[in-house]
Amino acid sequence: GNFTFTMIKPAAYENKHAGKILDMILQGGFRIKAIKLVKLSYEQAGEFYGIHKDRPFYNDLVTFMSSGPVLAAILEKENAVDDYRKLIGSTNPADAAEGTIRKLFGISVQKNAVHGSDSDENAAIEAAFFFSALERC
Ligand code: GTP
Ligand code: MG
Repeated sequence: GNFTFTMIKPAAYENKHAGKILDMILQGGFRIKAIKLVKLSYEQAGEFYGIHKDRPFYNDLVTFMSSGPVLAAILEKENAVDDYRKLIGSTNPADAAEGTIRKLFGISVQKNAVHGSDSDENAAIEAAFFFSALERC
């Protein structure tokens, strides 16, 4: 697919890293096709992360993701899903490669700076969860 979906998570947004992260995204060759700041309710965050509902960290994850604004965006690039996961690095910032977004701006496995879709199918589902057709350039 030629797009992926991302969120700058509440801690990274609160810590004023959004500008630097967006600059890395743009310099990495991605185009922003849609973007907005959203404060999710607990229920909305729970629906977004429904795939993880049986994992032990689900409640903490959903509580955190609804604790403050997230900056949601659709990013266009050839091979977007895989290339974006390369740019953000491993889930746990401690394991992420040097120079990746999670290495630079993540502070724990939960507060790992950004979300990135893990498949073309999920990128489409996640983009549609946040954005109407009217909001997509
Ligand atoms: P996302 O791009 O956010 O989906 O991350 P991911 O695809 O690299 O990881 P995954 O989908 O497996 O997990 C979703 C999110 O749950 C992660 O980004 C973490 O914030 C959180 N998470 C994953 N594993 C753990 C864990 O062991 N403990 C805690 N507290 N959070 C976790
Ligand atoms: Mg994931």
